[in-house]
Amino acid sequence: MNSTKAFAPATIANFNVGYDVLGLSLNGIGDEVELTINGTEENRIIHIKNGAELPMESEKNCCSVVIRAMQENLGEFRGVDISILKGFDSGSGLGSSSASSAAAAFGYNSLVGNPFGKKELIVFAAEGERIACGSAHIDNVAPSILGGFVLANSNDPNNIIELPIIDNLFAVTLFPKIKINTSDSRKILKKNIPLETVSRQIGLMGAFISSLYDNNLERFSYSMQDLIIEPMRSLLIPQFNEMKAASLKHNALAFGISGSGPSVFAITEGIENTNQVLMALKEVCDAANLETQTYTNALIKNSGARLIK
Ligand code: HSE
Repeated sequence: MNSTKAFAPATIANFNVGYDVLGLSLNGIGDEVELTINGTEENRIIHIKNGAELPMESEKNCCSVVIRAMQENLGEFRGVDISILKGFDSGSGLGSSSASSAAAAFGYNSLVGNPFGKKELIVFAAEGERIACGSAHIDNVAPSILGGFVLANSNDPNNIIELPIIDNLFAVTLFPKIKINTSDSRKILKKNIPLETVSRQIGLMGAFISSLYDNNLERFSYSMQDLIIEPMRSLLIPQFNEMKAASLKHNALAFGISGSGPSVFAITEGIENTNQVLMALKEVCDAANLETQTYTNALIKNSGARLIK
């Protein structure tokens, strides 16, 4: 085999309760990365479709940086030509650099005979995050590679935990078409948080995790409160409060900011509620003349990176 094509999904990082440690994959939306052994020791970005703003230089592009990190670890440099097909906008808050990084890690691993386990690939994919947004957080790349809900406490594969998913849940995601760079969105966060707020947030995180194991929708919904990040970042998102109120009024179980924003998400039970929340969100944005892109995805396990060629 001298060529592979891998797909890796978009993700909702933080998921309200787990800043930098919790994420969910969005089955169906994502990036494709095609790799072809080029017979040299160099990795070359050959083509990027739908990402004119992304770097073609191999030392700056997240895919080639991830592959180089894998090659350095292996001590073997089988250079590849890299073609990237972006399936959604960068700067959307849906894990754009992570989807490319995860697909590159997954594809290269397959191309060279799977020397790494899936959880080990997360550490390499995080190098793509470091180059793209200045921080090697893994709450996007971990679910993009593994699929489903992932709790990623550290880069140690033993501490990366795949969580259960409650049946019949959907994510309605809305991208208001403005760009927010992750590095900017991280810079605005206060570094000091009152102890009482942290304590309450830890309690909500525990309640959230237990709700997944207990299949308890009421607790899932109650626990999905972001006391720390949302008050700071929601100010950057047009119509945030109106969208949140409309979603909750139409029986969304939860509403929040996807990753560093500007995308927002609602979690809904059943297709009927999902469609109602989607319509309610669109109404809010139409009334404010806000251009948007929306997605709905069923929450499922095994929805992580995969080979498509
Ligand atoms: N956890 C990250 C953040 C996700 O909120 O900044 C964005 O990549």
